[in-house]
Amino acid sequence: MAGFNSQRWSLKGMTALVTGGTKGIGYAIVEELAVLGATVHTCARNQELIDERVREWKNRGFKVSGSVCDLTSKSQREELIKTVSSVFNSKLNILVNNAATVTLRSTTEYALEDLSSMMSTNVESPYHLCQLSYPLLTASGNGSIVFVASIAGIKALPRLSAHAATKSAVIQISKNLACEWAKDGIRTNTVAPWAVNTGLIGRTPIRRIAEPNEISSLVTFLCLPAASYINGQVVSVDGGFTVSGF
Ligand SMILES: NC(=O)c1ccc[n+]([C@@H]2O[C@H](COP(=O)([O-])OP(=O)(O)OC[C@H]3O[C@@H](n4cnc5c(N)ncnc54)[C@H](OP(=O)(O)O)[C@@H]3O)[C@@H](O)[C@H]2O)c1
Repeated sequence: MAGFNSQRWSLKGMTALVTGGTKGIGYAIVEELAVLGATVHTCARNQELIDERVREWKNRGFKVSGSVCDLTSKSQREELIKTVSSVFNSKLNILVNNAATVTLRSTTEYALEDLSSMMSTNVESPYHLCQLSYPLLTASGNGSIVFVASIAGIKALPRLSAHAATKSAVIQISKNLACEWAKDGIRTNTVAPWAVNTGLIGRTPIRRIAEPNEISSLVTFLCLPAASYINGQVVSVDGGFTVSGF
């Protein structure tokens, strides 16, 4: 194609941190970023699974590392960013806030502990990681943050009121950061999936649920130079659910 610049569709030379990359959507995101040339660091709570995944990715020629971090712990988050800073020479291009937890209950059945636990993993942790990563993202000269939220943060779905509060919170945080940090060369966007075929949501009564790579493709696109003018957006990946509501 005339004028086609393949660098716009490559992540070669870029560095990325993806939370919760050992399973589900995060696993697909790590893989897709690495396929496009990024060097990726991921974290989760289970050391054995991290080691297994990293071995598998390395065998396939991807540049991926991993470390244990319970994202509910402030000190472990600080340790994670120290590790990322040292592995990536104080520069980070991409932060994907993917890891989250969900408990499904009607509002009268939710315990306050459910809400606190989801707030800690789904809101406090990504917010804090953005704060901690800010100097690294700025230093890269070309930063991109992607939050993995949920349709539950946009539409009222049954048995999800507490979880929904955490997801609409990150959607708003994403919009605020998009405005605050554009001057620093950092774009911030959100991907909002509906039901996806992962361990988090095993079975649903709906007709077709997405595969993790149907979410990771959009996350990856938003990190590409080709998406350089996309900032502050919330993009749903829901097979049309939010427009049809079936
Ligand atoms: N699946 C869906 O239907 C669906 C729909 C809408 C939105 N989403 C969103 O998509 C994202 C990924 O979901 P998923 O379905 O892929 O989840 P998943 O299959 O349960 O995987 C979650 C990943 O996060 C890690 N993780 C969870 N809690 C953690 C913590 N406290 N500290 C560190 N790592 C932690 C897990 O590893 P360890 O357990 O070893 O820590 C795992 O690697 C979430 O933000 C979720 O809300 C999912």
